[in-house]
Amino acid sequence: MPETLTITDNRTGKQYEIPITHGTIRALDLRQIKVDPNEFGMMSYDPAYLNTASCQSRVTFIDGDKGILRYRGYPIEQLAEHSTFIETAYLLLNGELPSATELKSWEDELNRHSMLHENIKKFMEGFRYDAHPMGILLSTVGALSTFYPDAKQIFDKDGRAIQVARLIAKVPTIAAYAYRHSIGQPYVYPESELGLVGNFLSMLLRRVESPYKPNPILERALDVLFILHADHEQNCSTSAMRSIGSSQADPFASLAGAAAALYGPLHGGANEAVLRMLATIGTVDKVPNFVKQVKNGEGRLMGFGHRVYKAYDPRATVIKDQAYRVFEETGKNPLLDVALELERIALEDEYFVSRRLYPNVDFYSGLIYEAMGFKPSMFPVLFAIGRTPGWVSQWLEMLGDKEQKIARPRQIYLGENERDYVSLDKR
Ligand code: CMC
Repeated sequence: MPETLTITDNRTGKQYEIPITHGTIRALDLRQIKVDPNEFGMMSYDPAYLNTASCQSRVTFIDGDKGILRYRGYPIEQLAEHSTFIETAYLLLNGELPSATELKSWEDELNRHSMLHENIKKFMEGFRYDAHPMGILLSTVGALSTFYPDAKQIFDKDGRAIQVARLIAKVPTIAAYAYRHSIGQPYVYPESELGLVGNFLSMLLRRVESPYKPNPILERALDVLFILHADHEQNCSTSAMRSIGSSQADPFASLAGAAAALYGPLHGGANEAVLRMLATIGTVDKVPNFVKQVKNGEGRLMGFGHRVYKAYDPRATVIKDQAYRVFEETGKNPLLDVALELERIALEDEYFVSRRLYPNVDFYSGLIYEAMGFKPSMFPVLFAIGRTPGWVSQWLEMLGDKEQKIARPRQIYLGENERDYVSLDKR
């Protein structure tokens, strides 16, 4: 027997049977509930989409209560241990892990598309020396739309595949150029022998060494961080990507919008805030007082808490482990002890325990990035490189979903009723 939800309307005494599918009801099924046949019908009200599924997806699964994250069914812990960012990107995009031949040809394809048109360099030279690299990244990705007018053919499957490869291959190059721009050093062209992450490090850090050899520990740590950030289902930036894409804008324009959403401090900027917080606390002996202030409502413990996870963020566990490996190479970040003490106290304290506040992905990532020599303004840019395959996979899924239309929420209008215009001399 099909599952239904019975709703009784107290205004009319009428009963409605609303079908339940996958544990949800369709908001549109509420529209039949009305007092007068000429009425618009019942809507649901859900600011910030706290309890509304906007799509059906087969990309990423999260169980926030149990601290589970899976891409296409594969647990994040296994991907972080055994996979690479390029392979994980393939998995997200195609639904299956690649064979050795498929992986090689995917790698070759990304290599082929990693260069930028020379005019992009000129475009980037227009930014001030102190421009935030995230602002440069999102504007330049938007500008790419003008270099590839064929990207407008979003229903051409083969053409779409080229744009997808272009985006995943070019975002790291733009990110590296943005960084070099900010330190006034010449741009380094991509090199195919180094692989995506090694090449990214080369474009960022290379000076006069030849050949450039990335540090394997740092290269692997960055690879793992990109895997951990690769997708996180319907978060703010992914919803932006889907929403812009639903107007049939090209993927460069859509991804520029997604990057803009990620830029905000409540999303991709939290790792930067954690580092600032740890530096403000300074030493382990100041931690108890800081926790007391947080409990008194004077600020938040940044890097703690999550809208979906009400358990330890599984990505934080992997990052913590990577942090130790990186610190063995770079020397320990002195703020690590402050972070560990904060975590120890917070995980025992009634305030945090009762609210189910645990470390999230951003609690340790900033410490690693800083130890690797990145400026805090680069942190959201690194997040964006990792998230690009996720954004694109979700965009592709949206395009193939027959139920999707242009995103267009409703509103509850609470403004003035109709009134007559008052001429200027009477106001
Ligand atoms: N420190 C202290 N108290 C907190 C914190 C925190 N970090 N997070 C939540 N709370 C308290 C909050 O004050 C509230 O308490 P009360 O019930 O007494 O009013 C309760 O916990 C519930 O908080 P909320 O704001 O309703 O929860 P939310 O789901 O709307 O917010 C959050 C989630 C991530 C915005 C929030 O936990 C937060 O601000 N954390 C710090 C910022 C941060 O680390 N963000 C990174 C998120 S992970 C990366 C990403 O996905 O972009």
